[in-house]
Amino acid sequence: MEKLLQMKGITKRFGDITANDRIDFELNKGEIHGLLGENGAGKTTLMNILYGLYTPDEGEIYINGAKVEIKSPHDAIKLGISMVHQNFKLIQSHTVIENVALGLKDTNFFYPNRQIEKEIRTFSEKYNFKIDPNVPVWQLSAGEKQRVEIIKAFCRKARIFILDEPTTMLTPNETRDLFRLLKFLREEGISVILITHKLDEVMNICDRVTVLRGGKKVGTIDIDRVDKDDLARMMFGQDIILKEREEYSISFDEDIVLEVRDLTVFSDKGLPAVKDISFDIHRGEILGIAGVSGNGQRELIEAITGLRKVARGSIKILGEDVTNVGTKEILNKGVAHIPEERMRVGVIPSMSLEENIILRSYDKSPFSNGILLDYSVISEYAKELISRYKISALDEKIPAGTLSGGNIQKLILARELSISPVLIIASHPTQGLDIRSTQQIHELLLRKKEEGCAILLVSEDLQELMDLSDRIAVMFNGTIRGIIDIDRASIEEIGSLMVGV
Ligand SMILES: Nc1ncnc2c1ncn2[C@@H]1O[C@H](COP(=O)(O)OP(=O)(O)OP(=O)(O)O)[C@@H](O)[C@H]1O
Ligand SMILES: [Mg+2]
Repeated sequence: MEKLLQMKGITKRFGDITANDRIDFELNKGEIHGLLGENGAGKTTLMNILYGLYTPDEGEIYINGAKVEIKSPHDAIKLGISMVHQNFKLIQSHTVIENVALGLKDTNFFYPNRQIEKEIRTFSEKYNFKIDPNVPVWQLSAGEKQRVEIIKAFCRKARIFILDEPTTMLTPNETRDLFRLLKFLREEGISVILITHKLDEVMNICDRVTVLRGGKKVGTIDIDRVDKDDLARMMFGQDIILKEREEYSISFDEDIVLEVRDLTVFSDKGLPAVKDISFDIHRGEILGIAGVSGNGQRELIEAITGLRKVARGSIKILGEDVTNVGTKEILNKGVAHIPEERMRVGVIPSMSLEENIILRSYDKSPFSNGILLDYSVISEYAKELISRYKISALDEKIPAGTLSGGNIQKLILARELSISPVLIIASHPTQGLDIRSTQQIHELLLRKKEEGCAILLVSEDLQELMDLSDRIAVMFNGTIRGIIDIDRASIEEIGSLMVGV
């Protein structure tokens, strides 16, 4: 195998944190190379260095055996390296063609728009990868925007594609199309570096993997020589029992906890985002909501938690009408909310862990006597939750914003579940989290179900919905396209309902 890229002894420090510690990384021509590791292992940092976004403190990079200096993405692109970020860097008002043209500005290639349109169409046909060159980017879904980024990289004649968690917001069909494309590219000698937390994807598509842990490289290994358990062991330094749901069966009580009837809610633009939706969630039931984001899920959750006005219809919790009564009153009925935007809505990043933990109960006994806060009680309570929820943090006084993604999510769960909720509203509770944090959160939710909580679970991860839900409702264009019992559900069927088929 031809060595296309070598990164040697890469070290990158941020203050006291060594995000990359003398990492060696090699990439062959025409391979799909997985880059794995728990949250905070240093994957994105290493790729940001390769793409010229960060300068390493130590280490060297070689391409085809020759040492190169990559001081900016401009340098990286000239060397044939392209990165598809999670937050796309496209210009919304421009068309696909115009965005691709802008992407060529930093390269040696220049084509008129007509030529670019032809390239896009050829690419799209050759690889069966659909994209309409003439639509403005704002009209595209997340999956389609990702396609534009990939075509941009292709038109730049990239030889190395870096994809950082590319499948988090794709439908199953989009993921399948993406992987098919990556295999085509591999045949043409292009190399792909794929960062993902999904081990099935790794086993399915990668030739080799490199695993990082705590900023250090654990090893690089051929995929033929490992299974998922081996990978998990390399990632976490210990055995992780990878649980799969044994049988898809439904179990819940008859009592209705949440009743939603004929609900209509408007978006920020004043258009109907939720259209005449009705459903119930019972005691001990997990109702999954599947759907491509932007199909009304966010507005539905906001209406149920009182953050958005209900235009028509009603919401009842344990038989009591809570339509348009306000967030505080709804939450006080025993509703736990695990929001989509962890840093903006879920925690106050500048406040300490203990202050975040008592956000919902700081004005109540035993934390307050009505006037003053009792910090010794608060601190004891916070310590107990930190240990019970396995939040890894120096102590309870540090600001919440310094925690890693998985630990922030556990902090929110600790606070929300400690109120003994009757109803849990969870939006994308494990998005971006590594398998260990994901499992811990799944176990917490299943325990609450056992205790009789009703749970509304919104997720774009169909496997997660299949693993946890009793029933799955598919949202498309503001309506529910069907509620399917889990023992009759298939990923393919849900995938097609998600795109309105
Ligand atoms: N710009 C930055 N400033 C300070 N610290 C940073 C910065 N970028 C990363 N870090 C720290 O470096 C470490 C590695 O982070 P990195 O983002 O590379 O992890 P990752 O493996 O991509 O994790 P994840 O799976 O959560 O995306 C973490 O401890 C992170 O907090
Ligand atoms: Mg990352």
